[in-house]
Amino acid sequence: MKTLFSGVQPSGIPTIGNYLGAYKQFTELQHEYDSYFCIVDQHAITVPQDRLKLRENTKTLAAIYLASGLDPEKITLFVQSEVSAHAKAAWMLQSVTYIGELERMTQYKDKARKQSAKEGINAGLLTYPTLMAADILLYGASIVPVGDDQNQHLELTRTLAERFNNRYNDIFTVPEVKLPEVGGRIMSLNEPTKKMSKSDDNAKSYISLLDNPKTAAKKIRSAVTDSGSEIRFDKENKPGISNLLVIYSGLTGQSIKDLEAEYEGKSYGEFKTALGEVVESFLTDFQERVNEYVESGRIDDILDEGRERASRKADKMVEKMERAMGLGRKRR
Ligand code: TYM
Repeated sequence: MKTLFSGVQPSGIPTIGNYLGAYKQFTELQHEYDSYFCIVDQHAITVPQDRLKLRENTKTLAAIYLASGLDPEKITLFVQSEVSAHAKAAWMLQSVTYIGELERMTQYKDKARKQSAKEGINAGLLTYPTLMAADILLYGASIVPVGDDQNQHLELTRTLAERFNNRYNDIFTVPEVKLPEVGGRIMSLNEPTKKMSKSDDNAKSYISLLDNPKTAAKKIRSAVTDSGSEIRFDKENKPGISNLLVIYSGLTGQSIKDLEAEYEGKSYGEFKTALGEVVESFLTDFQERVNEYVESGRIDDILDEGRERASRKADKMVEKMERAMGLGRKRR
């Protein structure tokens, strides 16, 4: 069976964008692959975090992964910092990564701009994609389901895998990226030309998976729409309505074409009210499942078991990397 790997940062509560871009794919693909899902807390500390909040989010994120429909008997769910192989592999991969490659990453450029306005830019922000490559390559993953914004990091992961294989020893699987058909880039509700993000300062711009469902419906009703009145998918000229159509389609499985036909001649207001109801009912069910997991007291056991399974696999790859690079000693 081939291997799947993906990760989400516990840097806040995930949004409906994370759900449609990532979790929904995870659930659909989990049975076809030996699947590893990671709570990437070491990635999260590349921007300042409150330590208590970070730990709380780590546990909440585990419940959110499971509530999305992952089967804990089948998949491996674990916390990145609990598997030391990630940091070790990332260090080794830094030696095959060029600074120019890291500086070209758009996510680095965006975040660096924000950090440099406040303090300095920390080195972790620059080497972030090397840690991400380590995450993936350690498990021999052949597929990585992510949203569109991670595509560039995946390209770099492939480059690093090939470079390492050529330079040292052919030990890494070169992974393929898997982007969702619908919902790879959910946009902000009040600035629909900007990506929806869980770390946005304006809470009206995103729907958190733990938002009060009624508040979330209100956010949809007050989402920015475009001039004109037609409910039609046109990313260029109607970014607001197009984004809402994508959310609607992603949550219900109805195609965008069908939705356009269903809402022909109807007003933006009617459309947004209906989508608000879809979101409200989705979140109500979702949060019920999150609470069931939290109350079950099973999360720590699932993460402990995940840590053991992930470590067993990842430690073997670290050993192969060390051997390939000539680190450590060979005992006589
Ligand atoms: P993160 O935590 O920012 O996001 C988690 C996942 O959600 C997707 N996503 C979106 N999809 C659609 N619309 C949006 N507005 C949206 N915002 C986020 C992301 O593409 C991602 O799939 N670097 C990664 C975490 C990571 C990782 C990995 C992923 C670390 N190591 C190894 C895959 C494999 C990140 O910051 O995701």
